[in-house]
Amino acid sequence: MNTAVVGMGFGDCGKGKIIDILCPDYDVVVRYAGGPNAGHTLVVDGKKTVFHHMPSSLLRNEATSILAAGMVVDPLTLADEIKKLPHEKPKLLIDKNIHCIMPWHLIKDRDECEENIGTTGRGIGPAYADKCMRVGTTKIESLALSMIFGTDKRLASFKHLSESYMDAFTVIEPYLADTGEFLREATRKKLYPWFVKDVLFEGAQGIFLDVDHGGYPYVTSCGVGPAAINQACGLPNLHIDRIVGVMKPYTTRVGEGPMKTELIKTETELGYADDIRRLGGEYGATTGRDRRIGWLNLDETKRAIALTGATEIALNHFDTISKFSGKIKVLSEGKYVEFEPWHAIDELAGQIFLRFIEKVLNRSIKIVGIGAGRDDVIFR
Ligand code: IMP
Repeated sequence: MNTAVVGMGFGDCGKGKIIDILCPDYDVVVRYAGGPNAGHTLVVDGKKTVFHHMPSSLLRNEATSILAAGMVVDPLTLADEIKKLPHEKPKLLIDKNIHCIMPWHLIKDRDECEENIGTTGRGIGPAYADKCMRVGTTKIESLALSMIFGTDKRLASFKHLSESYMDAFTVIEPYLADTGEFLREATRKKLYPWFVKDVLFEGAQGIFLDVDHGGYPYVTSCGVGPAAINQACGLPNLHIDRIVGVMKPYTTRVGEGPMKTELIKTETELGYADDIRRLGGEYGATTGRDRRIGWLNLDETKRAIALTGATEIALNHFDTISKFSGKIKVLSEGKYVEFEPWHAIDELAGQIFLRFIEKVLNRSIKIVGIGAGRDDVIFR
């Protein structure tokens, strides 16, 4: 079975945790888009790990974990993440066609994009732009050669960094592979169906940050939803059986761009936003920025379902909203619907809230997150 886990909003919805829970049932786990702009936080036995490039499956290291060709990677942080992986022999494959975020991409992002769009400042946009410009040599398999022979003019100003990039390349090189070929073989329908591998695709960010379907220009620089998987992985005939849309019972956003339900208009609303931010630990995993907070907008979530094809929902942070002391609001068909607060996770009022979401979205909430830890989930 092929499954995708995708974000239904602006990212930061806890996809990493859902992947960590689901991955024991899969042979292969693939991160297909974005780069170190993502931050997947995992808490196991009270120990917190944040992955920026890595599929969250590498914590268990049972499945083969893949970084697909559609990603961009920062060689220095990627090498660092590899070195810090908890297993000595990580089952990791990195596509040799991936492009690298180079020092000038970081500078350009911070100088030109960070303030206007509120990017994560990790060089994502400029790296994808260079890739599409087809200038220079930022492809990962040619990174070492370009460092030695300086085929890219811009490298001259960063010669002092070349040693650290060479070191990083040495760490990364053993994992480089043709992952497209690997995945086509793994998902090919064979005569004996039990040989076909189960693949889990790990989305990054959320569908409203998709470069084609999000709120341009306040978006990231690649496709985000399941529609991007075929291209990013080189899997033209892939059929995805199950698409898990991950959401929260409220909205968050980092960076610029519109947010209709943002809690910002009055002192009371700002106080509510502070409460939810504090209760949910809503601070960026990559940048540490305060996340903007708003009520859940089900009109937008319906559009997210249309764009992602989500077949079911995983709703995280149910514990957070259960701790909120005031009335909870949800935007549906242009009007706010109010819910009385509840406190125990299994209280009727909380179940009514979940049922309302399911009814409006016409999808079942199959997984409910009730805390940061691996075991803090309810399967329904
Ligand atoms: P970039 O991807 O760093 O270029 O940033 C573009 C927009 O996407 C900004 O609004 C970022 O805050 C947002 N963004 C990028 N990655 C993430 C993420 O993993 N979570 C939430 N927002 C993100």
